[in-house]
Amino acid sequence: MSIGSSFTHDSAKLHVSGHARYIDDIPCPFNTLHLAFGLSTVAKGQIDHMDLSGVLSSEGVVKVITAQDLPYENDSSPAAMDEPFLADRAVHYIGQPIFLVVAENHLLARRAARNAVISYKEDTPILTIEDALARDSYFEDGPRTYEKGAAEQAIYHAQMCLDGSISIGAQEHFYLEGQAAFAVPSDDMEMVVHSSTQHPSEVQHKVAHALGLGMHEVRVEVRRMGGGFGGKESQANSPAIACAIAAWVTKRPCKMRYDRDDDFMITGKRHDFRIDYSVGFDQRGKIQGVSFTHYVRCGWSQDLSLPVADRAMLHSDNAYHLDHCRIESHRLRTNTQSATAFRGFGGPQGMIGIERVIDHIAHHLRLDPITVRKRNYYKDAGSETKLDTQTTPYGMEVTDCVINAMTDALIEQSDYFARRKNIVQWNRENILLKKGIALTPVKFGISFTLTHLNQAGALVHVYQDGTVRMNHGGTEMGQGLFQKVSQVAAFEFGLDMDRVKITATDTAKVPNTSATAASSGSDLNGMAVKLACEDIRLRMADFLGGYYQVGANEVVFVGNEVHIGGHVLSFSQAAKLCYEHRISLSSTGYYKTPEITWDRIKGQGRPFYYFAYGVAVSEVVLDVLTGENRMLRTDIIHDVGQSLNPALDIGQIEGGFIQGAGWLTTEELVWNDQGRLMTHAPSTYKIPVASDRPGIFNVSLWTNENRAATIYRSKAVGEPPFMHGMSTFFALCDAVAFCAVQYPMLDAPATHERLFWACERAADGH
Ligand code: MTE
Ligand code: MOS
Repeated sequence: MSIGSSFTHDSAKLHVSGHARYIDDIPCPFNTLHLAFGLSTVAKGQIDHMDLSGVLSSEGVVKVITAQDLPYENDSSPAAMDEPFLADRAVHYIGQPIFLVVAENHLLARRAARNAVISYKEDTPILTIEDALARDSYFEDGPRTYEKGAAEQAIYHAQMCLDGSISIGAQEHFYLEGQAAFAVPSDDMEMVVHSSTQHPSEVQHKVAHALGLGMHEVRVEVRRMGGGFGGKESQANSPAIACAIAAWVTKRPCKMRYDRDDDFMITGKRHDFRIDYSVGFDQRGKIQGVSFTHYVRCGWSQDLSLPVADRAMLHSDNAYHLDHCRIESHRLRTNTQSATAFRGFGGPQGMIGIERVIDHIAHHLRLDPITVRKRNYYKDAGSETKLDTQTTPYGMEVTDCVINAMTDALIEQSDYFARRKNIVQWNRENILLKKGIALTPVKFGISFTLTHLNQAGALVHVYQDGTVRMNHGGTEMGQGLFQKVSQVAAFEFGLDMDRVKITATDTAKVPNTSATAASSGSDLNGMAVKLACEDIRLRMADFLGGYYQVGANEVVFVGNEVHIGGHVLSFSQAAKLCYEHRISLSSTGYYKTPEITWDRIKGQGRPFYYFAYGVAVSEVVLDVLTGENRMLRTDIIHDVGQSLNPALDIGQIEGGFIQGAGWLTTEELVWNDQGRLMTHAPSTYKIPVASDRPGIFNVSLWTNENRAATIYRSKAVGEPPFMHGMSTFFALCDAVAFCAVQYPMLDAPATHERLFWACERAADGH
């Protein structure tokens, strides 16, 4: 049975043996050229004078391309057309590409790029959220607001209230394979682009525009990425455009890969946020009204910032039913890298706001935070409450909630209360090492909020020997999408996995695809493949039934065989027979998510087809003299509905959690006061490694099926587990709180330094 089985990732052996081919591993023709960008060294200003003769005369340089040399359009933005591919006089951040060097090899191109002499008329850059607010530097006209009920009044009339603020740092994607592309022009200058992108159709579109071609003259192929995490939704456009333009100009194949430091300097990251809140509640911790103001640092271009900031607003409730809630969102333009998609797409930042509020209330009332959480949760589906009165701040009914049952199960499984008692005891006895524990929930909405993106196509071929080649518009970035979707195809034909071949994503096979994003890869493409397979299977059944004179409904595909009434053929025999009788064995499939509607201006509707849920509890130990800490134990229960592949799902949960923990603890991006990113390599930017994982790490799947009619009732899993990382952050807050009287208003990331200072402040009695 191919559905629900723990097959390994289709490329697992290739990954671990180093044989998996990424862009830079594709053998390239002897005349291939290599590219590097020359980057802006000032954050805001006008290029005054540019002397590139030193670049051109450098060893191995074939060509230098500036904004003035571009064949057609100068833009690499995903939609807003506000992102010149090469700076045209104005520069907007340190790291912005200004010119493109085309050279005989990668190293020579990079070296030559340093020989430019550029002078600028500098302006004062807008770097921080505070700068942007002071200078009124916005995307859209001003803040956007969603409101349910009357938050301000509810807070005013509440028995108690609290105000606070939390700053949340950005995050670098740190995909192991950096941005890369490789363009090969054909004899009549059609362009084939191999790109490490989550969004092949967009790369096709942008390359076509850059060259003034039709989309039918550009083909983009993606076999796999060495990680994307949202960082290759829009950020892959530039290197692909660069290769295509250089190939166009030189008529030679061109390849580009960003060096790691350049990748940090050029590309967008997660949005940093400041969230100000005020909350009114009763003495039992029930929230009566809450108001959030999101300050979102979007960087120099619009990119995907509007939908990211929207999604943050849409996750301001997380798992809590709020009667009176107001969310105001400021999308701020700054002279920094263009903040972009990153796993969770704003959702994590939105959730941190309400989790901080809950934690703050619990501390104020001296209640266990779990008590306050449970008091405010949405009710589970199947409970007494009438669920149609239970709506999110944007008016969507929550009818599939399972968070209460999951929380109870996790409390039990993780032995939470006994451990909390031990921690209190331990902290009484230990002055220098403090422990902390926290449980945090996740409710994450599944679907693109831009409704039309919720569509997918597939192309399935059955060959006359009974093997299957499967194509769809989704891309593989390590998450196991191809494996899951080929399980769908195998299941539909009753075949073993080895009969189904997974192929590279190709814009010539499936057109007009959405980015593989919003965790919807298997939901959308799984369905499209299923529909294509069903189509072929029905044709085969129809024919075979007629051939053996039984009803088509008596034709069963199982165990690599086709049973036709009393007759049994192997699947290959059946395919051959169909072929010989001129039955088409190829089909497309097309799927669109039903039932979703969304008005992003009003902030009303049903933007999500369903929610994915999870709970995590983490325990940490903190050295109050240094701020150093360890994750001692993490337990997670996560809801993937009816799992397509439990091994891959657990992998996503473990990886997502660790990446989320990294975001909130050790990963800190620092810009200096000129706007230069100072942390642009692993020497200064600390992602979690294997030894940072919790000493005890238990992940289990919630036995459940999706109430929505998704592919075999499974649920999306790509992003939701990221937010379990919040449990480590609040466990650290808890540990600090043991040395403080006041609530420790910890900002994220909770680096060693920040924790150290929080403990110092606590010791001072602040
Ligand atoms: N897992 C791996 N190994 N590598 C990745 O780049 N990206 C994440 C998630 N899991 C990612 C990953 C992000 S941001 C998304 S949106 C989903 O995978 C996309 O894939 P899916 O829709 O197939 O889940
Ligand atoms: Mo994921 S941030 O939607 O690519």
